[in-house]
Amino acid sequence: DWTMGAYREDAIEKIRAQVGDQKVICGLSGGVDSSVAAILIHEAIGDQLTCVFVDHGLLRLDEAEEVVTMFRDTYNIPLIHADEADLFLGALEGVSDPEVKRKSIGRLFIDVFQKHANEVGGAAFLAQGTLYPDVIESVSFSGGPSVTIKSHHNVGGLPEKMGLKLVEPLRELFKDEVRALGRELGLPEKFIGRHPFPGPGLAIRCPGEITREKLEILRAADAVYIDQIRQHGLYDEIWQAFVAILPVKTVGVMGDGRTYDYACSLRAVTSVDGMTADYYPFTHDFLGETATRIINEVKGINRVMYDVTSKPPGTIEME
Ligand code: XMP
Repeated sequence: DWTMGAYREDAIEKIRAQVGDQKVICGLSGGVDSSVAAILIHEAIGDQLTCVFVDHGLLRLDEAEEVVTMFRDTYNIPLIHADEADLFLGALEGVSDPEVKRKSIGRLFIDVFQKHANEVGGAAFLAQGTLYPDVIESVSFSGGPSVTIKSHHNVGGLPEKMGLKLVEPLRELFKDEVRALGRELGLPEKFIGRHPFPGPGLAIRCPGEITREKLEILRAADAVYIDQIRQHGLYDEIWQAFVAILPVKTVGVMGDGRTYDYACSLRAVTSVDGMTADYYPFTHDFLGETATRIINEVKGINRVMYDVTSKPPGTIEME
């Protein structure tokens, strides 16, 4: 791609000019954005970069292993795998307000990055895969007054006390452009096509209080749902799909017994940039089959809903 080839050269020059001979740590989430940012920065400054993959205990099934393996095998970029599940889940105990959740998670990310910045011998910069829509959505919402809809953990707002400056080489790009840049940088197609996954992870797909039990149920249900979508060849038609576990238990019947388990909702949307979205028109057969599989295969769920809200007025995530 001609345009992305030029963008790549230009971005590399800018990163070198900004960073000089100082060290950079890059927060890796396993998504396309932070991966592209990391690879671009690695091209620019090589071993001055260390990636930090924070496992906050809010990842999907097998996600940590997949990301760490992919990064260590395909790219020779130093990677710290920080297991901080106890830290994050401990802080989130009893918290159900969405903004409090987001802000606690954001604060802890900064603490963890700061710790590792010190450990790699005094990094001066923190790199993130912030995109243009992240920048505008955290400031205002199209058409409305200038209010914060959601505090994205990975945008601005770094406390003054943090000594790290930001490197954000994708700040002017939309998602489709980041994917084109990823291809230009040789990222595997399977990785480029991955649905976006938010920094706060499963926390914002678990409205109400987060517990380890709910997270485990959510992971299992999400894996079945995504498997269904892949098996039906629909994954690439969908911008993003996931399960959310609802903060309510309902009564059901299984065999000759009564059940009292969680309800979950399925989300799938089409979108160009995440700013607006339409719910995906699955067939009734697909929905019925998926609900049956989830209820049969996932202990703890006995009711499945399909979320037919578009954005606006809904948002893509639950919180
Ligand atoms: P919403 O829910 O605001 O989401 O319609 C729009 C897109 O942004 C993702 N998202 C996030 N990504 N940090 C991220 O890196 C965040 O805090 C965050 N919140 C939402 C969401 O998954 C969707 O693709």
